[in-house]
Amino acid sequence: MESFDYAVIGAGPGGYVSAIRAAQLGLKTALIEKNERLGGTCLNIGCIPSKALLESSEHYHTVNHALNDHGISVQGATLDVATMMNRKQKVVMTLTDGIVQLMKKNKVTVFHGAGKLTSEDTIAIEGENGTEEIKAANICIATGSVPVELPFMKFNGSTIVSSTEALSFDKVPEHLIVIGAGAIGLEMGSVWARLGAKVTVIEMLPQIVPFAEKQLASALQKSLQAIGMEFHLGAKVTGAEDLDGKVKVSFTDKKSAEHEVVGDVVLVAVGRKPYSENVGLETVGIQRNDRGQVNVDDHWRTGVGNIYAIGDIVDGPMLAHKAEEEGVAVAEIIAGKPGHVNYDVIPNVVYTEPELAQVGLTTAQAKEKGFEVAEGKFYFRGNGRALSMEAGDGLVKIVADQNTDKVLGVHILGPRASELIAEAAVAMEFSASSEDIARTCHAHPTLSEAVKEAALAVDKRSIHS
Ligand code: NAI
Repeated sequence: MESFDYAVIGAGPGGYVSAIRAAQLGLKTALIEKNERLGGTCLNIGCIPSKALLESSEHYHTVNHALNDHGISVQGATLDVATMMNRKQKVVMTLTDGIVQLMKKNKVTVFHGAGKLTSEDTIAIEGENGTEEIKAANICIATGSVPVELPFMKFNGSTIVSSTEALSFDKVPEHLIVIGAGAIGLEMGSVWARLGAKVTVIEMLPQIVPFAEKQLASALQKSLQAIGMEFHLGAKVTGAEDLDGKVKVSFTDKKSAEHEVVGDVVLVAVGRKPYSENVGLETVGIQRNDRGQVNVDDHWRTGVGNIYAIGDIVDGPMLAHKAEEEGVAVAEIIAGKPGHVNYDVIPNVVYTEPELAQVGLTTAQAKEKGFEVAEGKFYFRGNGRALSMEAGDGLVKIVADQNTDKVLGVHILGPRASELIAEAAVAMEFSASSEDIARTCHAHPTLSEAVKEAALAVDKRSIHS
């Protein structure tokens, strides 16, 4: 039986990054993956293919709706969904092939098959050619998550689907009904709305993207309505009925009035749940909580000392970059280094148009934690670069501690918010004050000047508003 210093079960961003870091630190490392391709949900059926389709659909929308003001007129633009899907798949293949190369470069041994703990230091790998067993001094479980299903609306792969199918429709649905206005619902809703589908979003809570600052969430809702998306907020879905290839969804609104909407496909995007079935947790006595998450201590150790767990199967936001950080930390701890993740500085992005990005606390969360809050806002309509891009919707909001001026949170709705948030994350990682950001010279004309202006606005001295 081959022996390793470290074995990781699950080759998503948490697992494969952890394997690379361990190998860099000199550990003999194995990576076990049950799917044919490495990369997990994020690369194969999540973050990456959705970004590819968002990019394509944005081009289509721009050509059809946003070029006239530039003096460019395009007639007869057509859509070939198959080509769009092929491009998406090429992006996925390039990146997942890239991970195979990274494993080779770092001398990580990859096993294809389903890994199952058979004892505290042995894993059985059930692959196409039978079962083999390996020994590992340390083990990390990084098996990710799967979409949550509504009990009265089971996935059927054609009319009631998860994000996986919504990334691969072979034609633009006439009417797409989306349940849940979180990241998946809004991103996939945007893709198909831009390509011409009627999109109706039904959300249980009173605002879209419930974790976001209220003002930014409502502004985003307006922008999405402008491309034709329709929203029912505070709505409770009560049932779904098959209607000869179409689906009728029933829901009650916030005043308990009953409604029905008929669409040709329903995307259920009400969250994801940890996936750690059939990994043998019970065999070694690893506990899960009532949400199905694996219980770990501050160092990602399960109750079994040499077995760790990271990513979507443990507590915290279900985000690829959070899993990556945890994977690196675990590899470093095993190699005798002080691995650490700063959970106060995990950016969160929704790739709509405009994009929504945030890091740290909202005003409400900061107040709940007892901070006296100072806020600074700057609207992109006062930013030269944004206006040149015809992208003046949105704003940057900085939440700071009134007493120390330390930045507690940064919230951005606007062009390239996904990139701009990195400046905020770096500033917060270094415990910056809003004055630190305000006194940093930002290139002109750039979108990042809006971040500087919002920082100036905390002290009520924004220049351009
Ligand atoms: P989510 O948790 O982001 O949003 C789910 C939404 O559904 C919430 O607004 C919730 O209030 C609503 N909801 C729940 N039950 C409902 C019901 N019965 N009827 C109507 N609405 C209901 O989950 P989502 O969008 O499915 O994404 C899953 C995970 O994947 C999340 O953790 C998300 O952060 C992550 N993800 C991240 C992306 C990114 O970083 N850009 C992109 C896509 C997913």
